[in-house]
Amino acid sequence: PVIGVGTASGKAILFGEHAVVYGHPAIALPLRDLRVRAEAEPLPERRLLHSALYTGDLGRVPARLASTARAVEATMSAVRADGSGVRVHVESDLPAERGVGSSAAVSAAIVQAVAAAFGHELDPTERHHLIQIAERAAHTSPSGLDARTVVSDRPVWFQDGSAHDLEVAGPLSFVIADSGVRGRTREAVAAVRALRDADPIAVERRLDRLGALAREGRAALASPNPEEIGVRMDEAHALLGELGVGDPALDRLAGIARTGGALGAKLTGGGRGGCVLLLARDPDHATELAHDLRGRGAAATWTTELRGTR
Ligand code: PMV
Repeated sequence: PVIGVGTASGKAILFGEHAVVYGHPAIALPLRDLRVRAEAEPLPERRLLHSALYTGDLGRVPARLASTARAVEATMSAVRADGSGVRVHVESDLPAERGVGSSAAVSAAIVQAVAAAFGHELDPTERHHLIQIAERAAHTSPSGLDARTVVSDRPVWFQDGSAHDLEVAGPLSFVIADSGVRGRTREAVAAVRALRDADPIAVERRLDRLGALAREGRAALASPNPEEIGVRMDEAHALLGELGVGDPALDRLAGIARTGGALGAKLTGGGRGGCVLLLARDPDHATELAHDLRGRGAAATWTTELRGTR
């Protein structure tokens, strides 16, 4: 049998989460060491077999697998394999619902694997479109930032649905620390919208500033000027808290990191749980911070080294 394979990676948003939903720019970093790998194999009947998770009719997949089912169905339709079924198997290093891109990465890997199983190689535009169909089943109106970053091997600049690679004069050492609290992106996005309806002037001012931080952050990444990036991460964290998407566990981890000498610390992704992203001075300092945070309550930590692109 033909086995199609697809891969994608995790992501962390450096600047612009939430503001990106309103047309402001954002910067996201692929987490290359956190991988998702999917395998797909065609089946003769219109069924979905999802490793241990589900076996049955493709039209009756339970809600918790809705985005997977959408990824599979949309891809099979795109490669004109509607009459068939598929067996998929997914292996992921990524924790779900922590703002590190698990849903987009799983969809991206599945889309590529299913297309390959039916003998198709998708171009980046087609692939992005299919990932977004699956993402819409997981979130209400995803900006597309996650979908772009999980298939990139470079930092991404994103605005209004389009993305391009970013110039970075690394190295920069980042740490991601998981609070262990489930992130609630859908709820957080809805909360920002409600707050914006209630108090448009105050909320627009904060969203504008988050967008400006992304633009200033872009210049600081090109220098690179780690201190300039760090202060902006701290400011973004405070603004996101004012928009109501913070969480005491995230504030606590960010505080511990700053005390430990982190140049900047902010929540990353949808918020209300999930992870904080920290900028360390160098790889040793990143390892030290990660160790400290695990000792003081972080459920997990990862370090990532951003190399220069020039
Ligand atoms: O929590 P995540 O990793 O799904 O990131 C959400 C980012 C938001 O800007 C809050 C929403 C979006 O669609 O971009």
